Amino acid sequence: MSQYWSDIVHELKPYVPGEQPKVLDLIKLNTNENPYGPSPKAIAAIQAAATDQLRLYPDPTSARLKQSIAHYHGLSAEQVFVGNGSDEVLAHIFQALLKHDHPLLFPDITYSFYPVYCGLYGIEYDAIPLDRHFEINVHDYDRPNGGIIFPNPNAPTGIPLELKRIEAILQKNRYSVVVVDEAYVDFGTESAVRLIKDYPNLLVTQTLSKSRSLAGLRLGYALGNAELIAALTRVKDSFNSYPIDRLAEAGAIAAIEDVDYFEATRQRVMQTRDALVKRLEAMAFTVLPSGGNFIFTKHATIAGAELAQKLREQKIIVRHFNQPARISPYLRITVGTERETEQLLTAIKSIL
Ligand SMILES: Cc1ncc(COP(=O)(O)O)c(C=O)c1O
Repeated sequence: MSQYWSDIVHELKPYVPGEQPKVLDLIKLNTNENPYGPSPKAIAAIQAAATDQLRLYPDPTSARLKQSIAHYHGLSAEQVFVGNGSDEVLAHIFQALLKHDHPLLFPDITYSFYPVYCGLYGIEYDAIPLDRHFEINVHDYDRPNGGIIFPNPNAPTGIPLELKRIEAILQKNRYSVVVVDEAYVDFGTESAVRLIKDYPNLLVTQTLSKSRSLAGLRLGYALGNAELIAALTRVKDSFNSYPIDRLAEAGAIAAIEDVDYFEATRQRVMQTRDALVKRLEAMAFTVLPSGGNFIFTKHATIAGAELAQKLREQKIIVRHFNQPARISPYLRITVGTERETEQLLTAIKSIL
């Protein structure tokens, strides 16, 4: 607290990201990164871009990157907005599209950055409880609102929402923006991108941090009607004209275009996830259905916090959330390599 701070800073409750440990000998299953590393073509493109040209600003419109993303998704470049990680894209969305007279709606158990953006931008919200199976009940979103946002699959539960249910939300909410945060969609969840042509109020966000293994590059994007994209561009150009640097643009284009590598690594992650789920279920764990590169699981007898602590003693870090209370028995575990998964299971066996 300081007399020098603007009033709003005193009120902020910032997001606390998962630990990025300083030591290297930990098995890191706590922030949903991809264990396989980015496409070698992306690394080569970043290296090739590290030249004397770095003295020049990058293209403020990221036109080539938008073209690649648009081509990949079968859209036009005006339907694409890019930012420094999907977190930045989401921040612009909250400010540009979700602040209205009625409250914003999102699930009570969801990505914990959403209420933080509401605090930053002074947006009223209602957190709608998930049902007792931790699922979104679409009828709960049938009420006056200034926008709706949810991840699909949801985080940290991992549970996917079927496309027909997303469409039911869109049909009942034609006058507010519906944002589907698809950070983890490539690990077995159906994307809402194909609904964009029918719903001008639908915005879909994706990231290169997970399925393209580029969390360190910071590249995320939004897809939607050109009118929504124009609002985001106005906010971006009132904030930072150059969020995508030259290295990020080069690496991102190569990663998007290397479809074979993307397919191979995401399939591998999904296979490891499915095998992990079976093995945990055989050890008295309950695992929620996952459409992401992580699982949300609780054991019949050992508490989530205790198991997380004991795994840490064995140099394995996973994520435990204390709030809300009904998720405190659970742990969120990122799917690692096959070898890391074996080490995780061996550690769990020894703890139990
Ligand atoms: C649901 C969800 N959305 C968005 C993000 C942001 O990802 P990034 O800023 O790396 O694109 C995350 C990160 O973990 C997430 O879990």
